[in-house]
Amino acid sequence: MQIRDARVDDWDRIWPLWHRIVSAGETYAWDPDTPEPAARALWMPPALGAANRVFVVEDADGTVVASAYVRPNYGGPAAHIANAGFMVDPDRTGRGIGRRLAEHVLEQARQDGYTGMIFNAVVETNPAIKLWESLGFRTLATVPGAFRHPVHGPVGLNIMFREL
Ligand SMILES: CC(C)(COP(=O)(O)OP(=O)(O)OC[C@H]1O[C@@H](n2cnc3c(N)ncnc32)[C@H](O)[C@@H]1OP(=O)(O)O)[C@@H](O)C(=O)NCCC(=O)NCCS
Repeated sequence: MQIRDARVDDWDRIWPLWHRIVSAGETYAWDPDTPEPAARALWMPPALGAANRVFVVEDADGTVVASAYVRPNYGGPAAHIANAGFMVDPDRTGRGIGRRLAEHVLEQARQDGYTGMIFNAVVETNPAIKLWESLGFRTLATVPGAFRHPVHGPVGLNIMFREL
């Protein structure tokens, strides 16, 4: 397994797992029907340029099995607080890929000068919360009933943060 910075042409290999995860409507506050060009603009916003860093995880045969982005969550005097997003191929979850990718992303964000990382909308039913807590994130607040989950109905969105 190799973690590296994504190239622009990696998007075509990120998109299938992105689509599977977002279309399930359980973990991201994005339209489950997001078309491919709009999805690309969400993961790799052209306007942000190098300020948006994207990573991919490749397995031994070069298949992209996960991706993450890191970017400033705010602007100007608060641009040192990062936001990040993570997706692991649903067929490969639970094997430690997400944890390794997150550890890599946290270290890269620290090296890039960020002093904290915030997740703006972690669905409170998402088992990933355990992962984030084990990596030092804490929930600052929960927006009650903000997310219409297809199975659980209205559930909260956690704002999670950790210093870097
Ligand atoms: C969240 C996600 C990135 C985690 O990646 P992963 O490769 O499955 O995670 P790992 O195998 O490294 O597991 C890490 C820990 O998280 C927990 N965890 C993660 N997903 C879990 C799940 N579906 N069920 C139960 N526990 C889970 C485990 O407790 C595990 O702990 P351990 O390392 O002590 O065994 C991945 O499941 C994913 O892409 N989910 C859909 C998109 C998403 O929710 N992104 C995050 C939005 S906040």
